[in-house]
Amino acid sequence: MIEVTSAFIGTGPDPATQTNQGFAMAYRHAAAYKEADADLIACADIVRANAAAFGDYWDIEADHVYDDYAEMLDAVEPIIVSVCTPPPTHADIVVECARSHTVDAIHCEKPMDITWANARRMAEVCEEEGVKLTFNHQRRFGKPYRRAKELLEDGEIGELERVEFAAPNIYDYGSHSVDLCNYYNDEGRAEWVISQLDYREEDLWFGVHNENQTLATWQYENGVYGLAATGKGAGLVNCHNRLIGTEGTIEVGNGFPTGETDEQVLRIKRDGDDEWEYVDCDGEGLHGLDSQDFGSVFIDRAIADLVEAIRTGESSELAAENALKATEIIFGTWESSRRHGRVDFPLDIDDNPLTAMIEDGTLSPKPSTEN
Ligand SMILES: NC(=O)c1ccc[n+]([C@@H]2O[C@H](COP(=O)([O-])OP(=O)(O)OC[C@H]3O[C@@H](n4cnc5c(N)ncnc54)[C@H](O)[C@@H]3O)[C@@H](O)[C@H]2O)c1
Repeated sequence: MIEVTSAFIGTGPDPATQTNQGFAMAYRHAAAYKEADADLIACADIVRANAAAFGDYWDIEADHVYDDYAEMLDAVEPIIVSVCTPPPTHADIVVECARSHTVDAIHCEKPMDITWANARRMAEVCEEEGVKLTFNHQRRFGKPYRRAKELLEDGEIGELERVEFAAPNIYDYGSHSVDLCNYYNDEGRAEWVISQLDYREEDLWFGVHNENQTLATWQYENGVYGLAATGKGAGLVNCHNRLIGTEGTIEVGNGFPTGETDEQVLRIKRDGDDEWEYVDCDGEGLHGLDSQDFGSVFIDRAIADLVEAIRTGESSELAAENALKATEIIFGTWESSRRHGRVDFPLDIDDNPLTAMIEDGTLSPKPSTEN
């Protein structure tokens, strides 16, 4: 077996705290690399105390604990580096890692970055440098989502006509939700999106603005439609993901966000059925059961997939090309609100339309006292 070594940028301060201001995702990545028999060899964080605590927890040698990640890469040359810093830092860090010629692969947390230009740039540079770039859209490895896809592929609801989701927002949480829509539609690319958004109260997730409410629809090149309702209007869709086919409907996580038990997380209604049929997902909910050492079984599977891709030279389904398709829909959604019209793809902007509309005074969210 090819030896895979892993290192971490942005360890997080506290793995016991899990909020939308900090999750210490590096601990969850580390647990998954351990599961995948990849050695944990070094870590870096601009807050040295965070890196030191992480190093202690994972038995990383003291002289492989850094506050400067460039120094770490030069010294240890890991096969893969996990980037678990806040979204505004992702592109610059990923580009620097790729251009350092010290790593074979980079696994970056979602969302890709805070602008569409940066999302494209990180993918382009990794492509140029021959570095595998993946994003942690781990939810697609959960049994409720996998089994929904299997039911679809088995023809249980006929041909897919529409994918839907409800979520708190389309950017941070929604990054997973859009990725799942694309997964159900065989990694399809969207042709256009049209939407409206509301942003009246500041809502910062990991330091980044997220809209309060969106209603968005898009169409894929193969004709399948997408529909998203976020925030206050999420009840319109009212489930984590819905797949509507020519002969029935599948729902994942009906009663968003918490209306179902883990035993009721997946259900199907075929044309002619009077009742929903619940499908067993071995007790897995929407977010993955905790595994040991702050891990998550979904992240264990996601990282196992990319470690396997490194060992075999294949591509992981978490590859940047798939993340870009989701990110284009996300920024396209906000862009449609800015343009007051449909946005045809490829998306021809560089910035972040939501933050641009805040900066130019189009949107004036009331400052939050919570973030
Ligand atoms: N996949 C998921 O389900 C999921 C869940 C939660 C968070 N996330 C994402 O994970 C990412 C990180 O979030 P988190 O919750 O782990 O944050 P966190 O605040 O717990 O940890 C981030 C760490 O990065 C460090 N850092 C910041 N800038 C740095 C830099 N330039 N160089 C080195 N270290 C730096 C900070 O000091 C901090 O320790 C975000 O993009 C977030 O959206 C993903």
